[in-house]
Amino acid sequence: MAKLRIFTFPDSVLAKKALPIARPGKEYFKLADDMLETMYDAPGIGLAANQVGVLERIIVVDTEYDVTDPEDLKPGEPIPSGEVVNGQIISGKNPIILINPEIVLREGKSSMKEACLSVPDYTAEVQRSEIIKVRYQDIDGLLRTIDAEGLLSVCIQHEMDHLDGTLFIDRLSQLKKEFAKKKLLKARKLEERS
Ligand code: NI
Repeated sequence: MAKLRIFTFPDSVLAKKALPIARPGKEYFKLADDMLETMYDAPGIGLAANQVGVLERIIVVDTEYDVTDPEDLKPGEPIPSGEVVNGQIISGKNPIILINPEIVLREGKSSMKEACLSVPDYTAEVQRSEIIKVRYQDIDGLLRTIDAEGLLSVCIQHEMDHLDGTLFIDRLSQLKKEFAKKKLLKARKLEERS
């Protein structure tokens, strides 16, 4: 496995549409593995191929993933079971790899505060569908469907947006979007100068 570079706003690869994967199969095992390692390391709960510079329709998500610093546990609080990496306890790993995902059913509306590994240091409330049914292919190319609500639903919609070149800040009102982009560009410039 290898950690990949995460592209950040305003890199143009984030604004491009990813192409369908004609034949999922073994050659995507490594990409999916690398994307998961990159996501867990960040740490994040979802990652789309655009974010690592690959314009193909594949996303990885894991909303059950949790990182606990043993020093942050309150007295008497149970220690979560899991793998220890760099002194942190990694629990609840349940990755899902979705190839060529398509939303076939939407229900309701909900909004949640979102963040993105490609939009560092920025969060905003975004309105999306509450419940979704997604058709996708797994890494072996098998057709599957998943029903998602809550965080998983938001996460899949957010990652699928990436495949269409859309960031969560693009879903804000015109005024908020312009403000966010200005702020991010300014931060980026300061970063480049230092
Ligand atoms: Ni994102």
